[in-house]
Amino acid sequence: MKLHLAFCSCLFFVLSACYYDKAEELYPNNYNQTDTSAATYAAHIAPLINTKCMNCHNTTAPILGDYSKLKIIIDNGSFNNRVMVQKNMPPSGLSISELSKIQKWLNAGALNN
Ligand code: HEC
Repeated sequence: MKLHLAFCSCLFFVLSACYYDKAEELYPNNYNQTDTSAATYAAHIAPLINTKCMNCHNTTAPILGDYSKLKIIIDNGSFNNRVMVQKNMPPSGLSISELSKIQKWLNAGALNN
């Protein structure tokens, strides 16, 4: 009986771990729904680009650095592809909360706000 219980609780943890993994895969852009604060270019996006992208993209194409340059790769889809979908830019990756802020800003129209 004891063994049975231990097996069940083990199975529970294994299954619940699987469940969370899959939820993230199924809804890759469903970042942190509880974060209701707005995301703006000046407060969130520009500082993030400066700290996470500019050490390379000051000399490596696409050259970033101001809103108009960032808007080019947003409009041609390569920002979304590399940062949000493939998640290989920056190569070190971004945190869920950083991705959440970016997604909100994109959803609101990627404004220069
Ligand atoms: C450690 C250096 C480094 C960092 C940091 C970095 N990148 Fe890159 N990035 C590169 C290199 C090198 C390439 C070109 C090779 C490639 O496409 O993988 C590239 C390519 C790209 C491309 C594809 C361009 C194209 O024409 O297809 C995009 C978009 C991009 N980076 C966006 C970003 C953004 C946005 C950030 C910050 C969130 C970032 N990168 C951070 C080095 C970096």
